[in-house]
Amino acid sequence: MNLPFLSREDLVVGVDIGSHAVKVCQLKRTDKAFKVINLGSAILPEGAVDDGTLDDPEVVGKIIGELFENLKIKNKKIGFSISGYSVIVKKVILAVMTEKELEEHIHSEAEQYIPFDIDDVYMDFQDLKTNRGDDDQTDVMLVAAKKEIVDEYLAMLEGLDLKPVIVDVDGFALENTHEYNYPDEKNVALVDIGASKMNINIISKGVSVVARDIVVGSRQLTEQIQSTFDIEFEEAEALKLGHIPAEEKQHQIEEIFASTCTQWVLEIKKAIDLYHLNHGDAHLDRLVLSGGGSKVSGLVEFLASETGLVVELFNPFANMAVNSNKIDPDYLNSVGPEMAIATGIAIRPSAI
Ligand SMILES: Nc1ncnc2c1ncn2[C@@H]1O[C@H](COP(=O)(O)OP(=O)(O)OP(=O)(O)O)[C@@H](O)[C@H]1O
Ligand SMILES: [Mg+2]
Repeated sequence: MNLPFLSREDLVVGVDIGSHAVKVCQLKRTDKAFKVINLGSAILPEGAVDDGTLDDPEVVGKIIGELFENLKIKNKKIGFSISGYSVIVKKVILAVMTEKELEEHIHSEAEQYIPFDIDDVYMDFQDLKTNRGDDDQTDVMLVAAKKEIVDEYLAMLEGLDLKPVIVDVDGFALENTHEYNYPDEKNVALVDIGASKMNINIISKGVSVVARDIVVGSRQLTEQIQSTFDIEFEEAEALKLGHIPAEEKQHQIEEIFASTCTQWVLEIKKAIDLYHLNHGDAHLDRLVLSGGGSKVSGLVEFLASETGLVVELFNPFANMAVNSNKIDPDYLNSVGPEMAIATGIAIRPSAI
């Protein structure tokens, strides 16, 4: 048997294809920790990726190809993550069985949870091994993704001469990078606010107990600014990010921020309430915010005062070394929250 040759190639390059931007992260395994050796992102045109679907694979492929070239990434093995309507993540309670029995049983079991024809999905599962001996049941995490959608990603990436070897799910990748960077934190709410969706994942004793995707995000802010002032999307985005001075528009922009953030916080509070309903005794250590939308100014403080929790921005590099000759520390700090998912994918070993 050939043992895998452990080099930097034993990790995949993490590629997070969001609806606003593609984020790429490459790590290297060192004796002590992972080291960030490559990091970058590129903005996608409006509508190229929508609700986890590649609407314009050609354009997205071109942008990813250019990003790999600019970052001089040679490793072809990559992992990417999927999200949106075509991915179903469901925790089911099943009788304890062996891995082999589970594999045989899972298809018939899955049919009732998956709103698509079972032949049209790729399926995966993981026994969460929650059985403590008081009954014969265990929690099993079931994941199903529409073949049609995943195949489109695979074709686009293979067309760039890349080798996609891992297909991850946004929420799992977040969980993965959180676990690596904050190994002692067992009860935590992870909330990723992207451009068009918010992913909430509440972890209790190291296991995901509430997971949901909600169709809200930072693009909402841009669109509201755009319609309020009847301006182009790009100008509205620049106003939102403070890249151009808001001047007399300032007050209305603040109102848009306040009303939209109130809506986001309500959704987060609903998930936390659900968590407490089912796991009343387990206090949440922290709420960790990621995604570009988490950087809306004042959101962290507002969320902390509304939930009574300690709220912080996700630093996916907290426990990592960094090649500071190549990666500017200021850039690293500012992109941390957006890079959480790409980093979570990049931690995965590619040995398959
Ligand atoms: N300082 C900021 N304030 C408000 N919004 C911001 C800020 N910085 C970035 N954003 C917004 O964050 C969004 C991009 O974040 P991210 O890269 O996490 O999204 P995405 O992964 O492409 O989207 P999704 O996951 O929803 O498909 C954009 O809408 C961008 O305008
Ligand atoms: Mg995203």
